[in-house]
Formats: sequence, C-alpha cells, structure tokens
Amino acid sequence: MHHEPVMLNEVITLIKSHSSHAKILDGTLGLGGYSEAFLQNFPESFVLGIDRDTQAINFSRERLQDYSSRFQALHKNFGSLDEIPDINNFDVYVFDLGVSNMQLSLPERGFSFQNDGKLDMRMNPDDENLLTAAEVLKTCDEKTLTKIFRDYGEERFANLIASAIKRAKYPIETTSDLVKLIRETLPQPVQRKMGSHPARRVFQALRIYVNNETGELENLLETLPKVAHKEALIIFVSYHSLEDRLVKLSFREWQKNNKGKILTRHPITPSDEEIRRNYKSRSGKLRAFCLIMD
Ligand SMILES: C[S@@+](CC[C@H](N)C(=O)[O-])C[C@H]1O[C@@H](n2cnc3c(N)ncnc32)[C@H](O)[C@@H]1O
Repeated sequence: MHHEPVMLNEVITLIKSHSSHAKILDGTLGLGGYSEAFLQNFPESFVLGIDRDTQAINFSRERLQDYSSRFQALHKNFGSLDEIPDINNFDVYVFDLGVSNMQLSLPERGFSFQNDGKLDMRMNPDDENLLTAAEVLKTCDEKTLTKIFRDYGEERFANLIASAIKRAKYPIETTSDLVKLIRETLPQPVQRKMGSHPARRVFQALRIYVNNETGELENLLETLPKVAHKEALIIFVSYHSLEDRLVKLSFREWQKNNKGKILTRHPITPSDEEIRRNYKSRSGKLRAFCLIMD
C-alpha cells in the first residue's frame, strides 16, 4: 500500500521556515506519508496524526511504530477540532484534503470506478450519520442528485445521469453497476472525447457528498483560528476548486480580521516533474497562513 505524498518538499520547506515546529498536527494522516517526513525532518518534534478512517489510523500506527515516543495516531474528524486533546498547543497544523490511495485501492471501500465493490464510499463506516453512496442514489430525488453531480463533480451531464439513475431497470448497488449505467447513458462521441474516465466526476461528487466533506471543511475553517496556537503555521493542500475556494476565502477573512498573514498570495502547485511522477497530484493547491499573537 502506498500513497505518494503531494508537494511534500514544499510543505517541509514552509515548516522549516516557521519559528517553531516542536508540535505538529497532521490533520489528515492517511497512510502517514507527511507524518513520516515530519518525524524525519524535525527530529525534536512531536507529531499527532488524526484521520476519520480507522484503517488509515491502524496502517499508519504500524508504519510509524519506530517513532512511537514522538508520534501518536487518533481516530478523529477534523470537523470536530475541539475533541482533539491539547488542540491549542500545536506550532503547525497541516491538512491534506481528499481521499487516500488506500481508500481508492481497496475494492470493498467502494470509492473507485476501476475496482468492483459495494458502492459504499464512507470514510468512517462507523459514523451512523453517513449514508453509503448506494443509499444516497436510492433515497435522493433526481433534482438533488443533479445538484450533487453538478456542485461537487462539475459534471456537464449531471441531469442526464441523475435521470438515468432514477429510471434504471436494475439496482445500482456496486461500483460496476454505476459505471455501467454512466457508460450506457453518456453519448458515445462525448465519451470518446473525454480526457478521463466517464464516471470520474460522478464518483468524486458522490464521495464528497457521502462524507459531507465541504461541511467538515467549513467547520474546521470556522474553529481553527479560534482554537489554534496564536503563532501557528497553518497549511492546506486541496484538490477541488470548491475546497480551495473555501480555504482562500477563509484566509482572506482571517487576515482582514487581523488574525495573521497569508503566506501564499497565489496557491503553490505541483511542479511539472511532480505531475509527471505522480499524475494524481495535478489538481493540488497549497495555501499557507501564519497566525499572529494577540
Ligand atoms: C489525501 S489523504 C492524506 C494523505 C497523507 N498526507 C499521506 O501522505 O499519506 C486524505 C486523508 O484525509 C482523511 N480525511 C478526510 N476528511 C477528513 C476529516 N474530516 N477528518 C479527518 N480525516 C479526514 C481521509 O480519510 C484520508 O485518509
């Protein structure tokens, strides 16, 4: 299992340039790629990694066991920051949003249009508030599904696909059922011209909706400047224009309210070399903010 960390050098350089990095919060631990690099680059530091996915927590705990005196992993949602012990005591807060390769590559998690599995997509299957993607398709009406596909997937054929789902002659319970339906619905010439898989946008939209990803990010951006250390460095890496916009607008608002300074007037993006090496990094945008003392 491997997840190539995105813009890792850029993240490390920013942290190196900050006044202190004794305590680092990795708010999206995933497979522990960032956390491992923090532990290696900052030998005096303590790193707390949180993730809403227990599989990510278990995997990274094992991967980073050699650092157990300086590393801890906790099953938490960054949308509920105040549940994290000592949350106001970190020098650096890092959030690498979205989905990990582990989630994408395990067919039974139902995130991937390339693997057959139950259409689930919950990052935290123990969270009773989350419906699976199959349940969302079953319970939402055509108008709601259209909005989900349009807002979170920027899918041009949102309405056509939503209408086909509601009229489908077979139950849509697996990732393959949904891929089949999308392939049957989109006009062939459109599919031929598409640069990527025809189901990519719908899968992304469903994942964001199932996990209330924008809602959790909004909660985080609301709470973070209130609870974070007054001289903390805050770093976000996002992969969707909607998320990047939320981060950008919050940073502007914080700066306007004298909470600190935007360090990235324009977002940092992956180098051509990184995109060649790791094509999945191509949509990444990094923004950083430094809080100031009252
Ligand atoms: C892109 S991956 C992080 C990869 C990590 N930086 C690495 O190098 O391995 C994003 C991770 O964030 C987690 N995540 C997404 N939303 C979350 C939330 N609201 N709270 C906590 N973790 C979340 C996902 O479960 C996933 O494991």
